[in-house]
Amino acid sequence: MARFDGKVAIVTGAGQGLGRAYAEALAAEGASVVIAEINEGSAKDVAEAITLSSGETGAGGAALAVRTDVTDPDSCTDMVRAAVDRFGTVDILVNNAAIYDGLHMEAFEDFDIAEWDRVMAVNVKGTWLATRAVSPVMKEKAYGKIVNVSSTVAYIGPPLLLHYVASKGAVVAMTRALAKELGDYGIRVTGLAPGMTFTDATKNLLPDPIMGDMFMEMQCLKEKLQPEHVVPALLFLCSSESDFVVGQNWVVDGGMALQ
Ligand SMILES: NC(=O)c1ccc[n+]([C@@H]2O[C@H](COP(=O)([O-])OP(=O)(O)OC[C@H]3O[C@@H](n4cnc5c(N)ncnc54)[C@H](O)[C@@H]3O)[C@@H](O)[C@H]2O)c1
Repeated sequence: MARFDGKVAIVTGAGQGLGRAYAEALAAEGASVVIAEINEGSAKDVAEAITLSSGETGAGGAALAVRTDVTDPDSCTDMVRAAVDRFGTVDILVNNAAIYDGLHMEAFEDFDIAEWDRVMAVNVKGTWLATRAVSPVMKEKAYGKIVNVSSTVAYIGPPLLLHYVASKGAVVAMTRALAKELGDYGIRVTGLAPGMTFTDATKNLLPDPIMGDMFMEMQCLKEKLQPEHVVPALLFLCSSESDFVVGQNWVVDGGMALQ
């Protein structure tokens, strides 16, 4: 029996990058997965790829693409309703959606105010709204796993990315507070803080390979972090094996931020 057989997971922002890797890994271990993504085309592509791979291996779970904007409360409600209608419940929520791809490094004085607001709306408010939408289903079953994706930047505080750094710091703090509010209901909230992972979004942020190497030099392990290095920690935090790991933010960054 696979680790997530019979479990239903929602992964927000799963149309590309790390979110896609999380969704595929959960499905490969038996979960039925909702690809909750603002980009409908990429959501469908990921759902199709998972369905195909499950068919080929005969072991994976099902996938459903649901166009979701995590900044919109109604869209978050629809996301949960679609999951329950199709799969019967929700056991796992991975709050992964964020504004990251397309960001540029700039001095703090120069950020566009609309971009600041957008980063906060998706990365912070979106985490709250998706959690709020899913919590009634989890409360009813007195069990659930919610993993909020922050970042190692919340601990390091790198320069020139203030809105993003601030948003991920907020996710770390929210994880602690939500874990306390939801613990009474058996809902386990944890955080995952990946390091500089070489997704397309990171390559767009750091197009100069020398800059990428420079950041990597800050790690204990001089190896480029890839999604497959982060996925095992995410799976652990989603599984019952971590049921007594609550309110913690796990840093998976090859030893960049040492706490
Ligand atoms: N790649 C890294 O180095 C790294 C490091 C630490 C943390 N993270 C975090 O991991 C997560 C994924 O990283 P990534 O590199 O795959 O980033 P990414 O920008 O490629 O992926 C983010 C996804 O979220 C989706 N999204 C954006 N706004 C949305 C909205 N309003 N509603 C629903 N979906 C929305 C995007 O369409 C995209 O598919 C993000 O939370 C990011 O901040 C990434």
